Amino acid sequence: MTYDIQRISGASAWEPRALEQDDRWKYKLTEHDIREINIALSKIQKLNVGEEKINPDTFELPLLSAKLSEFSDAIENDMGIIVLKGLPVEHYSKEELKTIFLGIGSHFGYQLPQSLGGELLQEVFNRGENLYANTGRGTNTSDKLPWHTDRSDIVSLLCVNRSETGGESKLASLTNVYNKIKEERPDLAEVLCTDFYHGRAPFESKDLSPWYKLPIFTEYEGKFASRYLRRFVELGQEYPEVPRFSDKQIEALDYLDKRLDDNDVCFYLPFEVGDMQIINNFTICHSRNTYTDSPEKTRFLMRLWLASYKGRALAPEFQSLYGTTEGGVIRGGILL
Ligand SMILES: [Fe+2]
Repeated sequence: MTYDIQRISGASAWEPRALEQDDRWKYKLTEHDIREINIALSKIQKLNVGEEKINPDTFELPLLSAKLSEFSDAIENDMGIIVLKGLPVEHYSKEELKTIFLGIGSHFGYQLPQSLGGELLQEVFNRGENLYANTGRGTNTSDKLPWHTDRSDIVSLLCVNRSETGGESKLASLTNVYNKIKEERPDLAEVLCTDFYHGRAPFESKDLSPWYKLPIFTEYEGKFASRYLRRFVELGQEYPEVPRFSDKQIEALDYLDKRLDDNDVCFYLPFEVGDMQIINNFTICHSRNTYTDSPEKTRFLMRLWLASYKGRALAPEFQSLYGTTEGGVIRGGILL
């Protein structure tokens, strides 16, 4: 299938300077917010419920919840990014931080499994894995991560500790880069709106089809959605029944990668201890520079994949990756 996507207007198609000049995507938690978070934490600790039972009812935030609901609208309909700043991470144990992160996240959407073991929260640190080994996952390495999207409506990261050097977080608006490519190379934009064969990751269920067709850029009911992780598009080529890449497809992927790194597309996100970044995974892709840890400064993040309560309906091809294309329901993550 080929999607005919016109130039995309609106706040989702931001250039880096828009994020530099406009602060509406940043929010510093107030003392009152932190008090609400602490009360919610102590209440839920008394309930002694499992991670899957952490939701807006069990992690109640009487006033902050209205703010979070506005932010959730902004993720779906505005710039697609919110950074909550100032969570005093050093005041909490790791378990308490997980509960708080799952609790705040639950106001944005349903938590999704991130592994076949059903983990709802992934710890992101260097476990010494090689990203390019067959089973390597970006969450377990210090490697530079190429531009990609994850497999959920929303991706959220909490910075608990930073690395000694490197590890910069990079973001790019996919609607902005789409507009640029459409203007500069309409032939390549069209290729990117046409099916690619994505291979399944080794950490996905073996019961699913080993590959599926999905364009890099889609639009459905007026809403844009992209899925891009080049390693998995290349993995599709390992199956003999999958058509070989055309020269044009390779040129289109190369052009996309190159444009994502350019100054009018790539935004370096300052990511400080206590920051929680929450991004729309259909309109923003991310990458990270390589990093080195020291005994004092060991990069440690927590990650959530969320199915937004306000999520968009998706093009039919997303069914294979998300389980359903309906919006506002549990979808995506690792399909168990
Ligand atoms: Fe990622």
